[in-house]
Amino acid sequence: MTIQAFANIALVKYWGKQDATWNVPLTGSLSVTLAPLATHTRLMAADHDQLWLNGEPVPLPARMQRVLAQAREMGGARDPLRIDSHNHFPTAAGVASSASAYAALAFALLAPLGADLKDISRLARLGSGSASRSVYGGFAEWLPGTSHPDSYAVPIADEHHWPDLRVLVALIDAGTKPVSSTEGMARTVATSPLYPAWPDTVARDLETARQAILEKDFERLGEVAEANALAMHATALAARPAVLYWQPQTLALLRHIWTWRHAGLACYATMDAGPNVKLLCREKEVALLLHHLQDAGVNEVLVCRPGAGPRVLEEGHACK
Ligand code: PMV
Repeated sequence: MTIQAFANIALVKYWGKQDATWNVPLTGSLSVTLAPLATHTRLMAADHDQLWLNGEPVPLPARMQRVLAQAREMGGARDPLRIDSHNHFPTAAGVASSASAYAALAFALLAPLGADLKDISRLARLGSGSASRSVYGGFAEWLPGTSHPDSYAVPIADEHHWPDLRVLVALIDAGTKPVSSTEGMARTVATSPLYPAWPDTVARDLETARQAILEKDFERLGEVAEANALAMHATALAARPAVLYWQPQTLALLRHIWTWRHAGLACYATMDAGPNVKLLCREKEVALLLHHLQDAGVNEVLVCRPGAGPRVLEEGHACK
């Protein structure tokens, strides 16, 4: 049985943990699940736990061992497993796959037990915080909670709610290894003089984003998503030493997006713990934006739309 799960992009960011061992965040966050950025995962019996990534054996990460241990505590996957995971992203470069990977794994481990999506979200969270949101199609909000049992995501609206919404992932070749999100947020929480303002910002932005999604108010959602991303990067930049994910091309693109928007093209930017820029827009603007992006020197763009939650793939879609 092969499970497919999609990545997601946060419109209100998760940035800071209250419990690093259990991946319990300091604030809520909200995202849209992105098709076609999929991971396909298949579990098979083996003589010891092992991970195969895109067809190659790789060391089993500590976070994955933790997910397996927790699933076993819940009565799943008793015997040793081979986890076969394939990222079916149009390109492997520059797009985080941990959300889709852990959502697919948690679903594969718990769905056979009849677990509900809350349980699956909690388990996915142990692998990667943002994965807690990829267990739903469309729009999801991760409720921070205070400990493992009450920290999980809930759905806001499914993948059919806003069919013309698009996210363009503009891939920027950084050539440098970014600081991991875990390290970046830990340093920000511990040292950034701007971090104390972050929880209130998130609370307000969550309210605005939730409403904008339900009303399909594109400008409102775009404005809050862009402002929230910039605020997150501002907290990181003020950390000591600074956590800076942007490359010159990131900033250049942000300025282009502002110019295009001021000229009447409805598009907004968001960025995560890396140099890539994601543009929020509507289907009718995609062709022109792709043109502009090419003129701006962006060579690779992934066009994404609201995607479904994890599902069992039909025979014939199985991992190669
Ligand atoms: O889930 P992680 O540990 O990869 O952290 C994700 C952090 C951001 O991508 C920057 C924000 C988010 O909410 O996805």
